[in-house]
Amino acid sequence: MSEIKTQTQEEPDTALPEINKTSQIVIKDLWKVFGRDSKRVLGKKYKDLSKDEIQEKTGCIVGLRDINLEIKKGEFYILMGLSGSGKSTLIRNLIRLVNSSSGSIEINGKNLTKMKQEELIEFRRQTYGMVFQHYGLLPHQTVLDNAAYGLKVRGIVKETRYEKASKVLETVGLKGWENYYPGSLSGGMQQRVGLARALVNDPEILLMDEPFSGLDPLIKRQMQDELIELQDKLQKTIIFVTHDLHEALKLGDRIAILRNGEVVQVGTPEEIVTQPADGYIQEFIRDASPAKVITARSIMEPAKILLYAWEGPKTALTLLRANKRRGAFIVDKSHKLLGVAQEDKLEKLLIKPGKVEIIPKSALRQVTSVSPDTILEDIFSIIIKNPYPVPVVDENNKLLGVVTSDQIFESISPMEGEDNV
Ligand SMILES: Nc1ncnc2c1ncn2[C@@H]1O[C@H](COP(=O)(O)OP(=O)(O)OP(=O)(O)O)[C@@H](O)[C@H]1O
Ligand SMILES: [Mg+2]
Repeated sequence: MSEIKTQTQEEPDTALPEINKTSQIVIKDLWKVFGRDSKRVLGKKYKDLSKDEIQEKTGCIVGLRDINLEIKKGEFYILMGLSGSGKSTLIRNLIRLVNSSSGSIEINGKNLTKMKQEELIEFRRQTYGMVFQHYGLLPHQTVLDNAAYGLKVRGIVKETRYEKASKVLETVGLKGWENYYPGSLSGGMQQRVGLARALVNDPEILLMDEPFSGLDPLIKRQMQDELIELQDKLQKTIIFVTHDLHEALKLGDRIAILRNGEVVQVGTPEEIVTQPADGYIQEFIRDASPAKVITARSIMEPAKILLYAWEGPKTALTLLRANKRRGAFIVDKSHKLLGVAQEDKLEKLLIKPGKVEIIPKSALRQVTSVSPDTILEDIFSIIIKNPYPVPVVDENNKLLGVVTSDQIFESISPMEGEDNV
């Protein structure tokens, strides 16, 4: 997630280790055809026909067509597409609630499609948590029992499962609700129970099929924020189905868009919004705000005037005047940003008795910097208060580049060819 900091802030010493982003789920040439004698659809005669033609000629329905995807460990992966495009079928294949017609799914290097029933059941319990749109809670069991359900079916003793379930209920903000029944909870709270139930086994992978689509908008937004926070802590691999573009852009590290059972585009929210693959996707992103997805990384440029502190006030002043600039970014020898040198302060340094060789940090103006992942929307408020471009720094405060207001407006102006009246 993006981060804005002022230069004077200390680096937190509790930084999380880089998560291992190797592919955890590898889907290859996956097909799912529903209907009688569906295997024949995979033969030469029908395979290349459209979904409608196949249905007309064979009565079979193509749920998924030749899906190839790789999902990384710790990734928040979104599946989007119109109704009937295959999102639920894909998610159900990932846990083999539906068996594929051909192709393979590897999870942590194990071929799911080849697993025997017993192995599959154990693998499912260990690996997955699933959250559905319609909570799927047991109405005659308490919130605590619902959350503990996954442990009960694994034969875990009552005391241990209640202890774990209580903990996970606390994580999702339901402490104090353990002994209530689902019917007395609001929709948002019921879905928190659903989430707690999915998390109780501490699964590596969370499958979420439109979990928030039944909630009203305010609660939905709150649940999204909480899920982002939770994911920051838990770093699960999440496969999340949604119809809602704003939800996808807000939550997703990457988004795969499906149409008629096929993957049409895979990309980061920024890639999807700025480089839609075709008209279908353009239609999808019509209401998307580029300012919410374009990051500092993709529009930053080198600072026009950049000086090392030891180059001294005289050089800085000369450069400022020659370039008619109000400020120059000053860095130390390891390229860490020290601040902005301004004309008046530099002049003062020069009239001081004694030769000033290095520009001292005390003579520099401290400016707000952003991380490369900061979205434009968050840079707006900084740039309007700031007479300089916004510096982009890495986690060690090294200056990577700057974002100017010109670049911002250029990047969010309508795309070429778009109706611009
Ligand atoms: N059990 C089934 N039997 C026959 N066809 C099915 C079955 N399940 C799904 N399909 C078909 O597979 C295609 C994909 O359906 P799926 O439910 O995966 O779509 P979806 O993208 O999840 O849609 P929605 O947004 O409406 O939930 C559809 O054409 C659907 O009719
Ligand atoms: Mg569905």
